[in-house]
Amino acid sequence: MQYNRLGRTGLKVSNICLGTMQFGWSADEATAHEVMDEAVALGCNFFDTADVYSRWVAGNQGGESETIIGNWLAQKRVRRQDIIIATKVRGRMGDAVTNQGLSRHHIMDAVEASLRRLQTDYIDLYQTHSVDHDTPLEETLQALDDLVRAGKVRYIGCSNYPAWLLTKSLWISDVRHLARYDSVQPHYSLVHRAEFERELQPLCQDQQIGVIPYSPLGGGFLTGKYRRDSDLPASDRANGIRQRYMNERGFAIVDKLAEIGQAHEATIAQTAIAWVLANPSVTSAIIGANTLAQLRETVHGAAITLSPAEKAALDEESN
Ligand SMILES: NC(=O)c1ccc[n+]([C@@H]2O[C@H](COP(=O)([O-])OP(=O)(O)OC[C@H]3O[C@@H](n4cnc5c(N)ncnc54)[C@H](OP(=O)(O)O)[C@@H]3O)[C@@H](O)[C@H]2O)c1
Repeated sequence: MQYNRLGRTGLKVSNICLGTMQFGWSADEATAHEVMDEAVALGCNFFDTADVYSRWVAGNQGGESETIIGNWLAQKRVRRQDIIIATKVRGRMGDAVTNQGLSRHHIMDAVEASLRRLQTDYIDLYQTHSVDHDTPLEETLQALDDLVRAGKVRYIGCSNYPAWLLTKSLWISDVRHLARYDSVQPHYSLVHRAEFERELQPLCQDQQIGVIPYSPLGGGFLTGKYRRDSDLPASDRANGIRQRYMNERGFAIVDKLAEIGQAHEATIAQTAIAWVLANPSVTSAIIGANTLAQLRETVHGAAITLSPAEKAALDEESN
């Protein structure tokens, strides 16, 4: 496992981050704990969650993923200080009009709830999950800075921010001497490139922002189990993937991954991860895994180095 600095900070994170959106959804608590144990055994020190995971499941309230992680931490199978926990705020966590967004009011409530569920007294990386156009950036950044100064949060990041808004946020932090966003979490994979590469990537390089892309396997599409002529695999996400990626472009990318993977004795999923990590802007790829087998397969992709010609061939196929 390789460890990279998160942007310009001194924080070292594994270049594979375990995403936990599936905890409380397609992975139950016992499985989730096994997957986290195995991730640590494989060298991952970085875990990504959000307060809203997995609120969308019938019967859930929100916070299920954080609760599962908190219970795992409480069992002390790992030392808290050896693990980097990233969580997020922004999504709706209750029916009240104030129970969502990036207002000072909601951030202050949400951080206490996340700390309680995670059974910890600090969050390593606190991220704004997506843009809230109804709250001034100054208000959000001041609230986040207060949390950093109070020791409840160590670093701050954002997710799903366009480049112009991240630039404006950096400027506000700079002129007001507030904590700044040191990472961004964009959607990025061979089947979803432009949103990150066009404007965010050069900004992150220029401003030394850590980049921790989510869905590097296209939610499972870039594993080869979605085929042109067979039934959809059994996955809670299969219908969404069919609508987004099951087209000729998507299948041509999967075919190219299979071809290039052969030279490395790598699977399609491993080659897809190797491509994301071959981007020098990327700090850590946030993967999802429902089983130990999925986790082990994907993590080993981080050990594969694609040649410039192989990377260029994948770039061309996915352009
Ligand atoms: N900031 C945001 O807005 C945002 C949005 C989405 C995700 N995220 C974060 O990013 C994390 C990862 O996202 P993601 O789950 O979409 O990532 P992903 O790595 O692209 O997809 C993971 C899914 O692919 C399937 N899979 C994984 N490894 C496999 C293998 N070796 N063979 C076959 N299938 C495999 C599994 O789903 P099945 O078993 O169901 O097929 C797994 O849940 C999330 O947990 C979350 O932390 C953030």
